Amino acid sequence: MDMDAPVGANALDAEKVVGKSLDRVDGRLKVTGGARYAYEMQQDALYGFVVEASIAKGEIASIETLAAERAPGVKLVLTYRNSPKQGTGNHREAHPVLTGPVVSRYGEPVAFVVAETFEQARAAAFLVNVRYDRDGGHYALPQHLDQARVPHQTDGAPADSEVGNFSDAYAGAPVQIDVSYSTPLQSHAMMEPHATLAMWDDDKLILHTANQMLNQGQQAIARTLNIPIGNVRLVSPFIGGGFGGKLWVNADAILAAIASRYLKRPVKVALTRQQIFHVTTHRSDTIQRIRLGTDRDGRIVAIGHDVFSGNFPSEQVYEAAALQTRSLYAGPNRLTRHRLVPLDIPVASSMRAPGEAVGLLALECAMDELAERLKLDPIELRIRNEPAEDPEKHIPYSSRNLVACMQEGARRFGWDKRNSIPGQVRDGHWLVGTGMSAGTRGNPLRYSRANVRLDPDGLATVKMAMTDIGTGTYTILAQIAAEMLGLPIERVRVDLGDTIFPEAAGSGGSFGAASSGSALFDACQALREKLAVRAGMDPNTARFGDGHIATAERSVSLTELVGSGIEAEGEISPGRNNQDFSQQSYGAHFAEVGVDRDTGEVRLRRMLGVFAAGRVLNAKTARSQAIGGMVFGVGAALHEDLVLDPRFGYFVNHDLAEYHVPVHADIPPGVEAIFLPELDERSNPLKSKGIGELGICGAGAAIANAIYNACGARIRSYPITLDKIL
Ligand code: MOS
Repeated sequence: MDMDAPVGANALDAEKVVGKSLDRVDGRLKVTGGARYAYEMQQDALYGFVVEASIAKGEIASIETLAAERAPGVKLVLTYRNSPKQGTGNHREAHPVLTGPVVSRYGEPVAFVVAETFEQARAAAFLVNVRYDRDGGHYALPQHLDQARVPHQTDGAPADSEVGNFSDAYAGAPVQIDVSYSTPLQSHAMMEPHATLAMWDDDKLILHTANQMLNQGQQAIARTLNIPIGNVRLVSPFIGGGFGGKLWVNADAILAAIASRYLKRPVKVALTRQQIFHVTTHRSDTIQRIRLGTDRDGRIVAIGHDVFSGNFPSEQVYEAAALQTRSLYAGPNRLTRHRLVPLDIPVASSMRAPGEAVGLLALECAMDELAERLKLDPIELRIRNEPAEDPEKHIPYSSRNLVACMQEGARRFGWDKRNSIPGQVRDGHWLVGTGMSAGTRGNPLRYSRANVRLDPDGLATVKMAMTDIGTGTYTILAQIAAEMLGLPIERVRVDLGDTIFPEAAGSGGSFGAASSGSALFDACQALREKLAVRAGMDPNTARFGDGHIATAERSVSLTELVGSGIEAEGEISPGRNNQDFSQQSYGAHFAEVGVDRDTGEVRLRRMLGVFAAGRVLNAKTARSQAIGGMVFGVGAALHEDLVLDPRFGYFVNHDLAEYHVPVHADIPPGVEAIFLPELDERSNPLKSKGIGELGICGAGAAIANAIYNACGARIRSYPITLDKIL
């Protein structure tokens, strides 16, 4: 089906199973070790170990592999000299490895050592002796802003937008805010490292690999290896987190595939934690300038957001940090611009809520600064700038309940007790402050297909090349099928993570649940019709429940109708609703922090996120997802900082000892997320909106604003560490 019209009443509205706070259907497998991740697949495999370039830019002068080749257990040392020619493209399209002597970024694989055991491969990897001729390069974003260019990203929103006349309106505005914020380089730091087990069956490649979007990955691998796409199968039933770091194919998959073909044996490889930082992608740092011009009542007359980010020279992907500024607040004169600086560092790519996650760190703090200037409550300022329609596209919102999120959050958080003057509230040696921010994240829908089958034993089986990266996809898909077929959830089996199943969008961009769930909805709808026809009933009035199909007059057990089994296919396409309606999820964050009067140490004391994101498919997994996003926001505000050495172009703190993410001790028990009831008739047949990336959006800004309220320090450079506060 295409999303071209309002959804109307449908089989999910009963919410007998959908929406419930159910445990994950794969929970037991995960906690008992029954869920096999890519590296855990048992095969008689050889082990590979990556040798990384230790310069950022230059050329390999010599590479000596003899000692490694003679080391115990070693089967193969791959370098550019014995690697096959591969297809090329941007990092979304292809991932060629070991292509030649030129080194263009630090950590780029220069050799791949394969041995009988992991230890042998690792030991031999240290015997590969590489000498380099080093060139100079451009590494640090702030040092090369003069190199910025307009990016030519083809599949996203345009880099610039302009409505009205920003310059004149801003210049004439009685109240002006002109502030610049910076956000650091960040790394995904998912739990499971990138890992692949590659094997060949004649000319067909099977890859067990940790990957968020299998059909995209299949294309990229086929293109890289110059083989037909039908000869590539990706298997990825369980993935230990991705956050964008596993959206695209990385070197582990291609190196394992090449080595396995060469050796005619399965080859497995996992990147070490340290290797992940350079061998895979990261989020660019940003420099953002926000200009807000208002009338004396705080109504925005001009809103401008300029963003610099960096990427590898051949890449066009930029950190779209001004995206939310195009739709979040009203105002007749608007200007947003993204500029991309080519840098000789690893490829920058999507990390959870690419764009909004760091864009809101700037915009929502600038709004706080504006509220203070106007002596307005920050919520009141936002309400005064609530738009009636999308202010740039001039189309209606599919649904928008930001104001309700802020008001409900204020009520629950006790916002009315706030002292808006910084530095007034003390608790022993702690200065205590509160802050809030709005949050928003785009709601995309992507093409997906699904197959559902009902067998004589009464078991329904769902098959899709969808992934579950830890978010709960297995569970919400089982709930949708159970609801629509009138089965208990125990009678639904969901098979995901294999490209032999129908194509699906995968997990990313907050489109996963909506896209895969909608395709499954369509498949279940088709199966309901088939079953109704077999029962001699009108598909529009027949009801499904307790394993039966029924009308007012009679009821038939489904198992009587299925014969030897009955199945149906379904699909979803975005359709016109994606162009005719401005689609976002919304939220409001409230944070209370303590700032140590003497040391500047910041401690989160409590936090509340209130979200409106259409139908919630599972209350428990949605809450976990939202809290996970908020914790990610705490990291963005206070901890995460991938430090680049501007002389040598490498990430200094490339491990989890030095790249800080929030740990349990950083997160107090009083962190809560709630969802307001909402159905979005224009989003998809589930009437849901994306939540995967919503939780992080705005979360860090609420903390930054709370820090200001606590101690009066307005820190515009993230993360907000104590050295900046003092
Ligand atoms: Mo997301 S950054 O599309 O996994």
